[in-house]
Amino acid sequence: MIVRRLHREFSQNPQGFLSTFYGCFVQNKSACDRLKLMYYVNGHYIPKEDAKISILDLAVLRGFSVFDYLRTYRGRPFHLEDHLQRLKYSADHVCLQLPHSLPEIEHIVGTVLHKNELPEASIKILVTGGASEDHFTPLPGNNLIVFAYPLTAYPSEYYEQGVNVITTRLSRSVPTGKTTQYTSAIIAMQRGKAQNAKEALYLNSKDEILEATTSNFFAFKDDILYTCCSEEVLIGITREIVLKLAEPHFPIQLQPIHLSEIPNLDEAFITASNKEVMPVTHIDSTPVGNGKVGPRTQKIMQLFRSYTQQSHWPTLNIPRYHS
Ligand SMILES: Cc1ncc(COP(=O)(O)O)c(C=O)c1O
Repeated sequence: MIVRRLHREFSQNPQGFLSTFYGCFVQNKSACDRLKLMYYVNGHYIPKEDAKISILDLAVLRGFSVFDYLRTYRGRPFHLEDHLQRLKYSADHVCLQLPHSLPEIEHIVGTVLHKNELPEASIKILVTGGASEDHFTPLPGNNLIVFAYPLTAYPSEYYEQGVNVITTRLSRSVPTGKTTQYTSAIIAMQRGKAQNAKEALYLNSKDEILEATTSNFFAFKDDILYTCCSEEVLIGITREIVLKLAEPHFPIQLQPIHLSEIPNLDEAFITASNKEVMPVTHIDSTPVGNGKVGPRTQKIMQLFRSYTQQSHWPTLNIPRYHS
């Protein structure tokens, strides 16, 4: 029976299956040690254990740092150029200088991937504020760190049955940039544990749903696909791809869903680089539609999965990030 289930899961989603299998493998500490992950830190490719920054770094003392996260599909970094453009936007937005040009960072990412030889990788590019003697004022000497580590897929039940999410009135301090300030996110997710919440949706002062702690939010009401306009949220690379893929199939409204409309929604889902398109079936314990993964969400999931298998992904050049 187990073999049949493994075979079914593999044929439905070979990459997800392999990453989960591999993820389980590396959770074993000695196996993880054997992996000998190599990170890039300020000009050096070094073993993970040797990667260190100062405790006087403004990232440690004040949460002053930006990052971007992406993953690979069949070993190829997915929309790297778009993620790098967003990294540059985030850095400029908080007055943090990137220590290298984007083509140089692209080369570093390629080298880190090559050195780690992972079947599928998570890639994180982090720029920290650097060490500061007065614990506040940035000095020259930002750190650039590039991590590659094994991608762990979410359980297949999340995609087959959907997930519960909660809402929160906490907020992100720099909503359009990707800083490392995830304090609100961590608090919201800790609070959501009792409800088995897999995400928390940020509400603005008008009780409109903006985005989630690490994903963007979409909902269907009738056949119309809604997602918040971009002003108050991080424009997710996955969000932009989903909007492009959905456009020929559904009318799209870039406007937020109000908290009071949750009982009238037909379907909902969240998007992020590591989650792809993940169905949401309950919000604050209220079922979305009939509380099951709906056909429109399944269509978007299938469109996105096929897109990831393409041999080429054209750069999106998202206007906010593309200067
Ligand atoms: C606050 C927030 N919104 C949206 C996203 C989704 O972005 P992307 O699709 O580029 O992964 C993330 C990703 O981590 C996030 O942290």
